[in-house]
Amino acid sequence: MDLIDKIDKKRLPKHIAIIMDGNGRWAKKRSKEHIFGHINGVVSVKKITEACSNLGIKFLTLYAFSTENWNRPKQEVDAIMDLLYDTIHNETKNFMDNNIRLMVIGNLELLNEKCYNNLMKAIEQTSANTKMTLVLALSYSSRWEIVNTTKIIAEKVKNNDININDINDDLFSSYLTTASIPEPELLIRTSGEYRISNFLLWQIAYTELYFTPKLWPDFREDDLYEAIIDFQGRERRFGKTSEQLNNL
Ligand code: IPE
Ligand code: IPE
Ligand code: MG
Repeated sequence: MDLIDKIDKKRLPKHIAIIMDGNGRWAKKRSKEHIFGHINGVVSVKKITEACSNLGIKFLTLYAFSTENWNRPKQEVDAIMDLLYDTIHNETKNFMDNNIRLMVIGNLELLNEKCYNNLMKAIEQTSANTKMTLVLALSYSSRWEIVNTTKIIAEKVKNNDININDINDDLFSSYLTTASIPEPELLIRTSGEYRISNFLLWQIAYTELYFTPKLWPDFREDDLYEAIIDFQGRERRFGKTSEQLNNL
């Protein structure tokens, strides 16, 4: 029996988020530059995007570049931006052929003009696609997002557009960059690190976390299926007791 056949297709997570980590270590193992790992990471991005779409996952969010990653050596940052440009440029046709909509979350003001325009073009072109939404978290950090959202809401309170007593979970969520995206049910992190690194802190309040030692460029379809099978074996209680959930 193939791993994919062990997945209950009726209980798929609607949204999977992935912290794609381990590119540098993958390259180092092969005595190559860091960027060699990122280049090979793109192969995983393509395979996992296709696998999620084929399975029927509706949203896939990939943490591609954090706010803190801007502090890496300039040479690496420049190479990642070039890789981002090329990948979006080359993949847009694929997104169209496979009915995939592209979205981006993050502080896009920090991207160079060439990358920004390229992304906007691909987002616009794919905006009517409906099979799956691929969300790239780029120049993203959760604290940036939460502070930014707080500023937007504070401004609206100041202008009497929002009453302070109306601020609640739902209202706050509706001003996040992920307002139109359901919260992820499953978050995967590769490379054996057990941390969140400033990713979707608000949105993962009740998300199931899955950590794997696989380095991102080695992560393949079967690794994804294993994560989903593990997820499907969990009981999501949201603060209730197991007996309540099972009507015992
Ligand atoms: C993840 O791989 C990709 C980015 C953060 C852009 P890393 O480059 O962090 O790889 P490691 O963690 O050094 O192995
Ligand atoms: C997290 O990986 C960010 C991305 C995968 C884009 P990092 O490699 O930057 O995280 P830390 O520094 O190990 O926490
Ligand atoms: Mg890393």
